[in-house]
This record gives sequence, C-alpha cells and structure tokens, in this order.
Amino acid sequence: MAKRKSYYVCQNCGYKSPKWAGKCPECGSWGSLVEELEKDTGGRNRRGSWIKPSSSAPRPIVEIGKQREERFRTGIEEFDRVLGGGVVKGSVSLISGEPGIGKSTFLLQISDLFTKEGTVLYASAEESPEQIAMRARRLGIGNDRLFVLAENNLEAIAEEVERLNPVLTIYDSIQTLYLPDLESAAGSVSQVRECSAFITNLSKSKGITSFIVGHVTKEGSVAGPKVLEHIVDAVFQFEGDRGYNFRVFRSLKNRFGSTGEIAVFEMTEKGLKQVPNPSQFFLSERPRGKPGSVIFAGVEGSRPILLEVQALVTRAVFTTPQRKAKGINANRLSIIVAVLEKELGYPLRNFDVFVNVVGGVKVEEPAVDLPVAAAIVSSYLNRPVKEELVLFGEVGLTGEVRNVRLEELRRKEAEKNGLKVLEGIKSVEEIPEKALI
Ligand code: TYD
Ligand code: MG
Repeated sequence: MAKRKSYYVCQNCGYKSPKWAGKCPECGSWGSLVEELEKDTGGRNRRGSWIKPSSSAPRPIVEIGKQREERFRTGIEEFDRVLGGGVVKGSVSLISGEPGIGKSTFLLQISDLFTKEGTVLYASAEESPEQIAMRARRLGIGNDRLFVLAENNLEAIAEEVERLNPVLTIYDSIQTLYLPDLESAAGSVSQVRECSAFITNLSKSKGITSFIVGHVTKEGSVAGPKVLEHIVDAVFQFEGDRGYNFRVFRSLKNRFGSTGEIAVFEMTEKGLKQVPNPSQFFLSERPRGKPGSVIFAGVEGSRPILLEVQALVTRAVFTTPQRKAKGINANRLSIIVAVLEKELGYPLRNFDVFVNVVGGVKVEEPAVDLPVAAAIVSSYLNRPVKEELVLFGEVGLTGEVRNVRLEELRRKEAEKNGLKVLEGIKSVEEIPEKALI
C-alpha cells in the first residue's frame, strides 16, 4: 500500500507545511506545528477495510437508536456500573492514570473475563509476553483464548487483529505505539492522535471492543489523554495514592453512561478487587478524638461516599505561610483560610495550613468547603470534632454556609454508617460551638 503523506499543521491558524518549523510562518506562533496524516479519501481505511459511513440519510428521530446497544457485563459489578451497565460492544475507551497505578493489571483481569465471549488480544509495547504471562499466573488467570502480543508498530498489531478477529483488544499504551507513516516519535501529539484515530476506525469497522491505556503525569497530562479524549467513546481514570492500597476508578467522559461515576477497588495479590462499601473502607483507619480530622459526606456521580478530611495548622516556619492541599483545589483552600481569618479572627497568616483528603481521592464539589473549614478550625483550636459527626456544605465569601445538592442522599449514607449529619449550621462562625467538643 502506498505510503500516506504527512503534513505539519499549525494548531493555531491551520497553516499547512510539508516540513516542520519552530515558528509558524503564517501566524508567528511558536511550537504550534504538529504532524498530521493526510486524510483518507473514499470509504476505505488504509488497511483496505470498509469504514461504515456515519448516518448517510436523514431518518426520523424516533426511529433512531431503538435497538439498545449490546453490552457485555464483566461480572465486576462496580466496574460495570461505572461504564453505565457493562461494556458496550465495539466501543473504544481510554483508561488513563499515573504509571504504576494498576492499569495493566486491571485490564489483564478484564481481558480474562472477556474470553467468555471469544478471543482477546492484549497488545503491549511496554512489557514482554513473559512478563505479562507471569503477571497472569500470579493473578491466577489466563486461558487459551487470551493472546499476548509485544509490538509497538500499530500497523503490525492491526494485522494480528485482522487475523485473530478478537472480541476485545487492549492497547498498552498509546504513548508507546506508532504509525510508520509519521515521522514524529512515539508519544508525540501527532502519533497519539493518529494512532487513536486509527484504533477507533479499526474497532468501529470490525465491531471490536477496545481499551487504550494512556499514562498521565501528576500534573494531569503528557502528550496524550487530552489529545485523544474527543476521539474515543469513553475516558476512565484511575486515581489513588501509592501509599494506599485502594484505587478510585472514575468516568471522565462516557458516551454510553453518565460521567463522574466512581468505583473503589482494593489492590490485592490477586489484582484489583471491588469494594462494595467504600465509606466503611475509607473510614477504617480514622483516628478517633484527634483534632483536625473531619468526616465529609460527598457525592461522586450518583454515589454517596464518606471521606476523612484532615487539616494540620502549625506556626509558620517561613515568612510566607504555606498552604498545601491534597485532594482539594489549592485555590479553594486559600479562600477558605481567608474567610476563616476574617470571620473568626484567627491570625492564620502566621500559620502553615495543610489539608488532605485521606486516601488520595480528588474532591471537586464545593460541598467539601465546610469540612475543610471545620478541620482547620479544629486543628487550630486543638479541639476534636464531635464524635460521629458528618459535615457538608459550601462556604461563601462572607462565611455563610450554603446548601448543596443531594443532601438527603448524604444524610442516608451517614446514617447507614452509624453517623449523624451536623444540621442547621448557617455560618463558619458557628463551627467551634456546633461542631467541636
Ligand atoms: P501495573 O498494573 O503495572 O500499573 P500500570 O500499568 O498502571 O503502570 O501495576 C503496578 C504494580 O502494582 C505491579 O507491580 C503490580 C502491582 N499490583 C498488585 O500487586 N495488585 C494489584 O491489584 C494491582 C492493580 C497492581
Ligand atoms: Mg502498565
């Protein structure tokens, strides 16, 4: 087959050039030229297989999508739930997370479950077949329908896909795959984008379910996940702290289900195991009667979850006091500290403030404001929070505590775990009196 041409396209103005340049000659922006493959014409992809034309003729809206998408239930209920009720056949999903978080291990487990449906191909450019086989043995899984391929040339993988015709293909990882027609190195924006488009075409034209592994760094992304988010059907992320042996699996985008759903898994010798009651799990190591520890009733997706929020307030060592946040937004922490300083009159400018959501769970919702404020006040005053108390609420700039969504759901989760919600708190000024011992 003829080699496809590639161009360098300015991501800023669309200028196209056959050669790379550091500065776009058209709009003058630096480092904006990214290699792209010439678009295919005709309805066939470059491997010669037919790509289904998407919706060629207009149809009445009520006629569309009547047949429900076919799903495969892995039997790991928490996983199936986050996906929206099982894996949609022929869908392409990205599984992202930091290196070492458990992506390969988990996808090997999923691969094994999929062999009930047919052949599975696990293509890895990161580990040798021996390493993968060793892992499978350690996990106590594997059978003759699970095939492993160590390859990073995506065209070569596609040939095997064509030959094996698997029900599921794993691509581990997108950063190590390359298409030979592109000059750019594996892991570059160009390769990541073109490779994922290639995988998507291949999967959709053959109805093969695909999972793509994508590494992200602590800061959020390398060339990768962000670039391909809009190409794939769904994006899932593993979160967690290396120090803890549990992982949060979260849907960031899902064409076949709702986003923001989470499932909690525990790391074991035999791989990731679902945790059906995460609240109990997260609170199991909570220190009792210690200042600076607060229980927060959060909602992730449609799931209520109790988490421990800790704060440490100590006299500042440097002239600029430190504000460190883990699990919550750092700007949010600065605002809460400022509000407490103003409303309660604490001289927090002379104190370092550290806040941590235990377990490495990332909380985005404003309902965490009040627990964070209470943890700080508790640590500052060195008075513990009342036993068995659960908090939630948004804190406004004048110190008022606002209602949050799904309060009833949070209340039920607290009661289910033998805890009680702090009711009727109107302002952060009331924290010492209403929440502390
Ligand atoms: P791995 O799946 O290789 O992470 P990733 O593919 O995201 O880089 O997992 C990292 C290490 O953790 C690996 O040595 C196996 C180990 N591990 C367990 O022992 N049990 C588990 O449940 C998981 C998920 C991983
Ligand atoms: Mg891996």
